[in-house]
Amino acid sequence: MAKKYYFVCKSCGHRIESFKEWFNHGQKCPECGKNFVDTKYTASPEKLKDLIFNAKDVKNLWHYFDFLPLDDAKNIVSAGEGVSPVSRWDFLEEVAKKEFGKTLKVYVMRHNFNDGTRTFKDIAGTLAASVLKENGVTDYAVASTGNTANAFSHYLAKAGINLYVFMPQDAVKENIASVSAYGQKAVICKGDYAFAKKIAGEFTAKNNILMTIGNTDPLRVESKKTWVYEWLRLTGELPTVYIQALSGGTGPIAVEKAIHEVSQFGDYKCPRFISVQPSLCDPMTQAWEKAKSQNFPEGWQHDFPKIQNPKTKVQTLATGVPGTYPIIADLTKNSGGEIITFDETKTAEVARLVAFKTLEKIGPASAIGLGGYFESLKKGLLKDGDVVMINLGEGLERASFFLSELAYNFDTVSSADEIKPFSRKDLEFKLWRDILK
Ligand SMILES: Cc1ncc(COP(=O)(O)O)c(C=O)c1O
Ligand SMILES: [Zn+2]
Repeated sequence: MAKKYYFVCKSCGHRIESFKEWFNHGQKCPECGKNFVDTKYTASPEKLKDLIFNAKDVKNLWHYFDFLPLDDAKNIVSAGEGVSPVSRWDFLEEVAKKEFGKTLKVYVMRHNFNDGTRTFKDIAGTLAASVLKENGVTDYAVASTGNTANAFSHYLAKAGINLYVFMPQDAVKENIASVSAYGQKAVICKGDYAFAKKIAGEFTAKNNILMTIGNTDPLRVESKKTWVYEWLRLTGELPTVYIQALSGGTGPIAVEKAIHEVSQFGDYKCPRFISVQPSLCDPMTQAWEKAKSQNFPEGWQHDFPKIQNPKTKVQTLATGVPGTYPIIADLTKNSGGEIITFDETKTAEVARLVAFKTLEKIGPASAIGLGGYFESLKKGLLKDGDVVMINLGEGLERASFFLSELAYNFDTVSSADEIKPFSRKDLEFKLWRDILK
């Protein structure tokens, strides 16, 4: 079979020929021992351009097979993920104009419509399951606060691969249930996410089981980079600002990787990354604000707090010890972006507003990301003419606690006289007031 892809170590430039070699070396560069690699493809950039601009009948992520690190298409394990709608939500543009005097184009990418597990982790699930199958891997492990746990459980089950999922003790019950319902092993670790990662590391080392290396894992980065391809395919343009809720930061890492690829055939620039953390777990915002206030002193990328047992209710974003901060810090600064925090007590209001305006229900992590858009307007981070892409990663499926928080327009009565009349107009006014105040 003709050679399709290879890896190049980002630290020393050493070339690694395949996943087989990568796995055999403990997912580290054999030369320098670092584990952040760039995935390169032998297909021409023109081929990628063609897949994007002359696409017909795109069914799933595997439309981009030539630019994904899998050798043989017969190993594909898919559930129709990766073609996520990108739409313009008028009300987001209107508020920018009316309240802040900014003319923006605002796109929203939503991931809760596929047949996988309905979050933006499904594309990593399909790629991981397919590559692991191709390489004869029978057992795998992942530490996850939620959505990755689910996606990997689903897709690896489909490939017949045993998966150990290490979760923090606060993991949402639905997630634990969903993982084990697929017949995968949920390991609830009596501590936070950092503790779950530690137990996972010990277990996999002892038992010689392969485990994801985290946010820089090529299995995750190479799948999420296809968002950029999809933005181009669906809208014909790239955003100038990219907004996403931030946990470990695979999203921004993947977007930057893809910009390099597409800029081989067009004049494309990296968007400004505006990454949004929940107020009760925002170590990267704290580190970023500190670095900014000191004018980015030497080594600032390595100065970040470690939040033990973060109290955030948005468990999918509960990375209290942000090991990837040095990478995200540089990405953010080089892009002219920002790392900001959204007050997580307002996530329900954001989700109510979305349901009011679009009839769609978004999950808590998505509400943090979208909340970051309003916060960006308030902080003056968006400029006239900006094209904003907000990536909403999840719907409400597995966060039933959050659905119950969305209740606000109800009366509990014992007689008909107690029912208060209401008007949708007043409700909307109050929703906006709560979010913008
Ligand atoms: C819905 C949702 N949004 C955002 C994130 C953060 O992703 P990232 O790894 O890019 O920080 C996650 C996962 O952690 C998620 O599930
Ligand atoms: Zn190296």
